[in-house]
Amino acid sequence: MGSMRGKVAVITGGTSGIGLATASALARQGARVTVLCRRTGSDGARKLAALKVLGEVNLVECDLGRLASVRAAARQVADRCGVVHLLVNNAGVFLRERAESADGLEMTFQVNYLSHFLLSNLLLDRLKAARDARVVNMVAPVDSIRLDFDDLMSKRSYSFLSASARSKLALVLSARRLAERLSGTGAQVLCYYPGLVRSGLFEGTSRVLKALIDVVGATPAQAAANLLAILAEAAPAGSPAFFERTRARPLKGMATDAEAASRLWEMSSRLVGFT
Ligand SMILES: NC(=O)c1ccc[n+]([C@@H]2O[C@H](COP(=O)([O-])OP(=O)(O)OC[C@H]3O[C@@H](n4cnc5c(N)ncnc54)[C@H](OP(=O)(O)O)[C@@H]3O)[C@@H](O)[C@H]2O)c1
Repeated sequence: MGSMRGKVAVITGGTSGIGLATASALARQGARVTVLCRRTGSDGARKLAALKVLGEVNLVECDLGRLASVRAAARQVADRCGVVHLLVNNAGVFLRERAESADGLEMTFQVNYLSHFLLSNLLLDRLKAARDARVVNMVAPVDSIRLDFDDLMSKRSYSFLSASARSKLALVLSARRLAERLSGTGAQVLCYYPGLVRSGLFEGTSRVLKALIDVVGATPAQAAANLLAILAEAAPAGSPAFFERTRARPLKGMATDAEAASRLWEMSSRLVGFT
C-alpha cells in the first residue's frame, strides 16, 4: 500500500506488545493512528498517549469482550474517519481457564475472533472508501487446526492453546469472506503470523512456554517492522494472503475450505446479531 504518510490506520490492542510497537511504527511513518483499547486510563494507554509526540494517535475505548463496546467504538471510528486505509485486528488473549463474556460467548473466541469479525464488518464502508485498504488479521499457524462447529464455544473441552488456535483459524477463514465483500475496491485482507514474540501474551500461561519465548522470541518491534515491510510491498494476487514473518505461505487444511468459511460467516453473523 506504499507510504503510510497521511493514511488512516486503526488497530486493536495497542496497549502492549506487538500492537504498541505497530502503533508506534505507524505514527513514526506519518500515519493517522486510532487505537482501540479496553481501558483508556491504563498504563498501556498512557504509553500510547505518549506516542502523540511522534504523530497523530487517538485512543478509543473498546472492550473486545463486549459486543456493545465494539459497536460503540466502530461508530466513533466511522464518525471520525471518512476512510480507513488500514485495519489491524491485533488484540488477543491466552486464557488459562474457560470464561464467558457478558454476551454469553466463550471469551477467547469473542476477543480474538468474533469482535474483530464485527468490527471489520462495521467498518466495511470506510474500508471500501479507501479504495486500496488493507485489513490485517493477527494469526498463528493453523495448518493442523480444525473448528468444531458443534462446539464453537468450547463447552465440551477447553484448553488455552486449542481455544487460541481455533480463534486464529476462525480469523483466517473469515478473512476469505471479508476479502470477497471488499472485492472490486482494491482492498486486500492479510493474515499475519509474527512468529514467536516476547510479549505480555504469555503471562499467566505456563512457565515452560514463557521461558521458551524469552529465549527464542523476537521483539515486538521486530514483529511490527516485519508487518510494515509486508504492507509496503504490493500485495500478492489473491486474498487472503498468509504471511509468516515476511514470507508469504500457502494455506493448508481447513483454512482452505470454502464451505467451512461460509458456514462460519453465517454462524458468526448470527452470534453478533447481524441476522
Ligand atoms: N506473541 C506471540 O508470540 C504471538 C504469536 C502469534 C500471534 N500473536 C498474536 O499477536 C497479537 C498481539 O499479541 P501480543 O503478543 O502483542 O500480546 P500482548 O502483549 O498480551 O497484547 C495483547 C493486546 O490485546 C489487548 N486485549 C486483550 N484483551 C482485550 C479486550 N478484551 N479488549 C481489548 N483489548 C484487549 C491487550 O490490552 P490490555 O492492555 O487491556 O490487556 C493488549 O493490548 C495477538 O492476537 C496474539 O494472538 C502473538
